[in-house]
Amino acid sequence: MQNNPTVFVLDKNANSREVMQGYLQSFEFISDIKLFENYYEGYEQIKQKGADSIVIMDISSETDNDIREITEKIKLCTPKLVITSSDYSTNTIIKALRAGAKEFLPKPVLREDLVRVLSALAALEFGEEISQSKIITVYSNKGGIGKTTIAVNLACELARVTKAKVALIDLNLQLGDVSTFLNLNPPFDVNYVIRNMLDKDEEVLIKAFEKYKDTSMYVLSDPSYIEQSESMTPREISELFKVLKKVFTYIVVDMSANIDANSLKILDSSDWIIFTTIVNIPAIRNAQRCLNLFRSRKYPSGRVKIIINRYMDNDDIRVEDIENTLGEKIYWKIPNNYFTIMEAVNKGVTIAEINASSNIADSFREFASKISDDIIEQEVIQYRI
Ligand SMILES: Nc1ncnc2c1ncn2[C@@H]1O[C@H](COP(=O)(O)OP(=O)(O)OP(=O)(O)O)[C@@H](O)[C@H]1O
Ligand SMILES: [Mg+2]
Repeated sequence: MQNNPTVFVLDKNANSREVMQGYLQSFEFISDIKLFENYYEGYEQIKQKGADSIVIMDISSETDNDIREITEKIKLCTPKLVITSSDYSTNTIIKALRAGAKEFLPKPVLREDLVRVLSALAALEFGEEISQSKIITVYSNKGGIGKTTIAVNLACELARVTKAKVALIDLNLQLGDVSTFLNLNPPFDVNYVIRNMLDKDEEVLIKAFEKYKDTSMYVLSDPSYIEQSESMTPREISELFKVLKKVFTYIVVDMSANIDANSLKILDSSDWIIFTTIVNIPAIRNAQRCLNLFRSRKYPSGRVKIIINRYMDNDDIRVEDIENTLGEKIYWKIPNNYFTIMEAVNKGVTIAEINASSNIADSFREFASKISDDIIEQEVIQYRI
């Protein structure tokens, strides 16, 4: 932001507009305060100020459609949108965050909450993005367990379910096969992006990715030559994530089973780790070892989600036994369905494109919905603290 911001208050309630004005007058960095009862009149002026605006919009008496319509318009002008409501049920907070609000404030708004939120938004101008973007890494310390299958189909379902921009990044630096799974040929690989494109703006950067059909999933493949993967450093991986977080809502990462400096950097940087195992004793033993490693790295609770792949109802080992052995709950189970998966891989498409009503397509769709809901819920808990 070049100039001091104008704050637009959109609120149907005259009393709360006045209270808000009183609070805002004490902020020296605000150049102007504009109050609107009619949100569309407000929008016309927000359009003129563009990114120099901060918008505080009340949704207490708005319908879902109105909220969606107006926030979509506002978001095209400025990312700095704060939503307030006298209903601060989890559902309303989720609705606000889904609509694209950077912050939610319950009504009556407290001055100290407003100070916190406005300072966070002001930080945006100095590049300290408050990121709601999440890195979701699909990992197992055992090869051949289904990581790529899960990363590809989860990323695509996340894009379909949420309509948000999803990046699918192949960081299985020597044996990546994401682009083969989807029959894609992205113009640049991750190595090229790291070396040449991290300073580019969003429009240019996104061209390094291949958009998957009519979805909002964008794919970045692994380096073409093995020697390029060896030269990549943990610091470069961090830089890559930092830049991608500004562009994508979800960054789904596929990686190798190895534990080395680069893979530790990926795991340490992930907001969510979809730790995948299958129902057999060696796999569960391996899982146990890996979870101990995560514990020793003091990952925050909720970062690691354990899922079972190739699940069958009649497996000898019961889910409760696995949970007891691992000391963690199982977050999701993906059914075994070899034929649908093989057909998808052979045709280079997602599972849903082979059979959208198969048990495994259903499972991925519900899995993606659960993840996006739970991510939003985590944010809500953060707002409640
Ligand atoms: N739910 C499932 N049901 C049946 N087969 C599956 C399932 N998930 C994965 N597979 C099969 O398991 C094999 C390994 O899958 P995938 O390549 O996704 O594993 P990976 O963990 O990425 O392997 P690598 O460690 O080599 O990268 C593939 O043949 C795949 O089709
Ligand atoms: Mg793989």
